[in-house]
Amino acid sequence: MTRSIITALVLNLPEVFGNHQPIPLPPLPAPSQAAYGIPGAASLEIPALPVTAVAGVDGPTIPYDPRHWQESSVPDLGYRQVLARAAQEQSQVLDPVEADRDRVAVEMLGFDHDIRSHSMRVALLAGAIARQLGLPEGQARDAAWAARVHDVGKGDPRILELVNSPGKLTEDQRRMVGSHTTLGAELLKGRSDLGSRSRLLGSEVALSHHERVDGTGYPRAIPASETSLEARIVHVADFYDALMERRPYKRGLSSNEALGMMTAVSQEFDPAVWNALIAVVVP
Ligand SMILES: [Fe+2]
Ligand SMILES: [Fe+2]
Repeated sequence: MTRSIITALVLNLPEVFGNHQPIPLPPLPAPSQAAYGIPGAASLEIPALPVTAVAGVDGPTIPYDPRHWQESSVPDLGYRQVLARAAQEQSQVLDPVEADRDRVAVEMLGFDHDIRSHSMRVALLAGAIARQLGLPEGQARDAAWAARVHDVGKGDPRILELVNSPGKLTEDQRRMVGSHTTLGAELLKGRSDLGSRSRLLGSEVALSHHERVDGTGYPRAIPASETSLEARIVHVADFYDALMERRPYKRGLSSNEALGMMTAVSQEFDPAVWNALIAVVVP
């Protein structure tokens, strides 16, 4: 990858890169978990798929079907397998509360097909990271659900237009894109059709998923240690998917390229979550 492509990626992902300057491409480690500092990492067995639908409540409310997470938008075959495996692991019949909040997520993301698909992939990845971290099943499912609604603030037409714009944004426009965090939190807080726990968690993750460990994120620029673990999980999963995703104005990266770029800014990630991402996506 050339430096000019890296620069273009930085310019075109303002919501992810925020105030980062263009990131020089670091030398890429070999594609193994050990290369990223995970001791004794065993190679992961990826089971043979197909992904099959599981009988649920009112049909497929969990994104186990690749059509829901728009498999064609992520060219990296390894990432597709990670998503498919996560979808298999996370597919299950929902209890009524979970089914209801999934319906809310689907409704709130009705404004844009690409953002809905991105959110579903981030949800699968967040769920896989949460399981890798050894979180209880209920918390892992909460993290996955919160990931589905992390970008609902982008439904504001002014923000959506900027997010889909290929050109370099002005400072004011970047601030406008950044406001999808506070706007999303407000939208979720106002959803009386969500239970109080989901409403609180969803709004917290929408607000905090761009905060960084080193306190250089947005909108509050607070250390990520002051945010929820779910927000720190979504931050890492969101960053990875944004790099891996093909958009009209950029190609989707390979996993190795994306991890190389993330390594250059890894001081912003919760170290345990960052290691868990690597364990999930590196065979
Ligand atoms: Fe976001
Ligand atoms: Fe996102």
